[in-house]
Amino acid sequence: MKKEGFSSRLGFVLAAAGSAVGLGNIWRFPYLTAKYGGGIFLLTYLVLMLTFGYALLISENNIGRMTGKSPIGAFRDLCAGKGFWGRIISPGGWINALVPLIILPYYCVIGGWVTKYMFAFATTPVADFGTPESSADYFTGFISSTGEPLIFFLVFVLITAAVVCFGVEKGIERFNKVLMPTLILLIIGICIYCMFLPGAGAGLKYYLMPDLQKFSYMTVVEAMGQLFFSLSIAMGIMITYGSYMRPQDDLVSSVNHVELFDTAVSFLAGLMIIPAVVAFGGEEAAGNAGPGLIFVIMPQVFGSFPGGQIVGLVFFILVLFAAATSAVSLLETNVHTLMQELKLSRSKALFFNLIEVAVIGAVTVLGYSIWKHIRPLVFFKGGENMDILDSLDFISNSILMPIGAVFTTLLVITVIGLKKFCDSIKSSDCPWHREFVYRFCMVVIVIPFLLIVLLNATGLLH
Ligand code: PFF
Repeated sequence: MKKEGFSSRLGFVLAAAGSAVGLGNIWRFPYLTAKYGGGIFLLTYLVLMLTFGYALLISENNIGRMTGKSPIGAFRDLCAGKGFWGRIISPGGWINALVPLIILPYYCVIGGWVTKYMFAFATTPVADFGTPESSADYFTGFISSTGEPLIFFLVFVLITAAVVCFGVEKGIERFNKVLMPTLILLIIGICIYCMFLPGAGAGLKYYLMPDLQKFSYMTVVEAMGQLFFSLSIAMGIMITYGSYMRPQDDLVSSVNHVELFDTAVSFLAGLMIIPAVVAFGGEEAAGNAGPGLIFVIMPQVFGSFPGGQIVGLVFFILVLFAAATSAVSLLETNVHTLMQELKLSRSKALFFNLIEVAVIGAVTVLGYSIWKHIRPLVFFKGGENMDILDSLDFISNSILMPIGAVFTTLLVITVIGLKKFCDSIKSSDCPWHREFVYRFCMVVIVIPFLLIVLLNATGLLH
């Protein structure tokens, strides 16, 4: 991203939404919702989104707008001259900056899976991999081979790297304006179709009716991690996006749009997939869902009506686009960090980051084949069930992001000062109806809540 700012507020919203809407909404949200009880997960997620997610989203954007810097520089500037406490809080920028370095490699692995399915729809009759008998085997056969997943992973990395060469306005804004709305319209169309599948009613109920008996501590931990992942918060991205905003830009309503848009896309993706899962395999199939869910279920959906082949192709092309725009923003952030902190040229920073992505991503891919017995988090309770991808996901979403978010909150309330911070949010003279919610979250709930999540996550140690 060149430091050129956005040409309009719409530009910001589209770019931030382009970063926010991605595999998190379409791949991750539906399988977590299915796995953690459907309606109860959805409810927990929505409550956290309106309180927590909102507070952090607005904080990060305003930190970026106040300083004009990305996370490390922003924390450093704001903590300068604040004595001992400033020195404690300042490394928070590094934690925020570390997260995208961990996420990008495995994000590209899933991006590779999407690329593979796009090719499959283009070249193979859907009847070969989109029936209830064939779809799970096809998916497992693919991820547990060694060559193909590596090739598709690399193709996805190359697509992402190519887009980064164009910079913020040309690379991101232009495509988003057309393709994102198209993706949403297509998802709505598929949702309507899925509602009418035999047995979808039970799935709809599973998705929309909270069952309190299914609530557990993990519902909250996972909903929280998903919130961070989906809104691209606690990883410095929104600080960087905020840094491209001008003081007169209406931060409050831009953030509202991003929050609403991101949640709506996740909700629709759930509506598209969960009734179909229950229709094809019953509630048990939903409870057993994992990262392969959309790759197993969507081909079955497309295999179930005439012309599904072409609709499936268009669907995976658009999902690939959404994934690529998000991956671009992850890569941009990493490149930016390396350029600023290690004083590297843009091309060197890009090169080093791509090497890192290639190595960690390849290890992740092989974690489904020759290294499938490796369990990096075996020392955590539950870690014995986590493969390499799950482990990277857990470390970033359930450990580092809550820590990053605690630092951001402490930065706002103890270093900058809540009053000064709120005044600067309001500086563009736009009404801010949720100020009370924001203040309440920042002062009363964010830190205790995050600490509970964290203590429990680390308390999982044997
Ligand atoms: N929010 C993106 C998604 O939901 O897919 C994931 C993501 C993109 C995270 C970009 C971080 C980021 F910088």
